[in-house]
Amino acid sequence: MNALQLITKKQAGNELTPDEISYLVRGYVNGDIPDYQMSAFLMAAYYQEMSPEETYQLTKIMLESGERVNTSSIPGIKVDKHSTGGVGDKVSIVLAPLIACVGLYVPMISGRALGHSGGTLDKLESIPGINTNLSVDEAVKQLSKIGAVFMAQTEELVPADKKMYALRDATSTVKSIPLITASILSKKIAEGIDGLVLDVKVGKGAFYSRQQYALKLANSLINVSEKFGLKTSVLFTAMDQPLGKAVGNWLEIKESIDTLRGNGPKDFVDVVLALGSEMLVQTKQEKTYEEALKRLSIKLQSGEAYKKLLEIVKSQGGKTKFIENPGNYPESQRKIVVRSERSGYISTIDALQIGTLAMDVGAGRHKMTDEVDLKAGVMLNKKVGDYVERGEELATIMTDRQIEVTEINTRVWNAIEVTKLKVLPPNPLLGYAVKDGSCRWPPF
Ligand code: URA
Repeated sequence: MNALQLITKKQAGNELTPDEISYLVRGYVNGDIPDYQMSAFLMAAYYQEMSPEETYQLTKIMLESGERVNTSSIPGIKVDKHSTGGVGDKVSIVLAPLIACVGLYVPMISGRALGHSGGTLDKLESIPGINTNLSVDEAVKQLSKIGAVFMAQTEELVPADKKMYALRDATSTVKSIPLITASILSKKIAEGIDGLVLDVKVGKGAFYSRQQYALKLANSLINVSEKFGLKTSVLFTAMDQPLGKAVGNWLEIKESIDTLRGNGPKDFVDVVLALGSEMLVQTKQEKTYEEALKRLSIKLQSGEAYKKLLEIVKSQGGKTKFIENPGNYPESQRKIVVRSERSGYISTIDALQIGTLAMDVGAGRHKMTDEVDLKAGVMLNKKVGDYVERGEELATIMTDRQIEVTEINTRVWNAIEVTKLKVLPPNPLLGYAVKDGSCRWPPF
């Protein structure tokens, strides 16, 4: 067996055996297979798809590339959520401390930015001093003491996803249902959790803009989870406009802090509470969704979850003074305010265009070696359904890059549509995947 034969086999649309998948993944992790051959394989898998059995085997082999977090010494319930990726999606940063406050344990392994979508790890790393490269022992210790821990894939923990994730980002091979399934579930199963809630994003800024493909992704995730005996629910949430108003690493941490202090944007709070409520219902902490929603809303408003975030950040070496006083964080050299050309209601804020703009002003990567500017990004001043006056601020762009103001203006104007007709704010909660492969739209 050699990598070239296996790339050719996949390229021709043939199914690989577990041994062949293992040969590729293990060979890549230990350095025998170079980036260029793994990239060619990923591209072949991207175009030819992988069968459900190959997807399961890929997940298993990626999971077995490292250790699992052994949470058996912690007596409580361990639960997590993961999103398929979106713009302004900072849910994990608020949800992990919130869920820890109700007595559940959240051992969260996250990823970096993928394509135009942001990554929880990059966002967290905008907090000076924070360390997400914890050893498994350190993670378990923190989990048991504080109730939540933010972790990265490391040489020890899902190293296959660590390497393949970065390579997919740089080779435009992210948008593949089997590759997304294996990437997400290898991380989540390695966490040693009892339950999982998945947030499958649907819309312009998601990897799948059509419901039909989002449903296919949800089914793939549920099927593979079931094979590992992991209880999993899927919620579909909207990603047509960015979630909340902040897009960019530190900007999103700042918006998360505001939210934990009781001042979050409505769509963001709704998504956090919906996913959290499903976590409580799934793990039988509450009987009904309504009861769970009430309990979490109170916790969020009380400031308890904010204190929990401080505890987590401190325990991981982060400088909490920036959480306590976000105004002390270094600012971008340039702040470009884009104003509306007309009065009316905001009908569209294209999440893909805003996500790509944030990436281009420094918040994301185009190559694996690119440095992310943690301060950079887009701060929206409006959401869909808001009224804007001509000349009023639509968005502010934070950057150190010398991009022409006319280019920034044009890109924001192209992304945001203003109409004369009144537009209602859309509900970000779209649906709930049901086990038989269908979906309830919307259950809320
Ligand atoms: N999140 C992941 O962890 N992996 C993907 O491939 C997409 C979203």
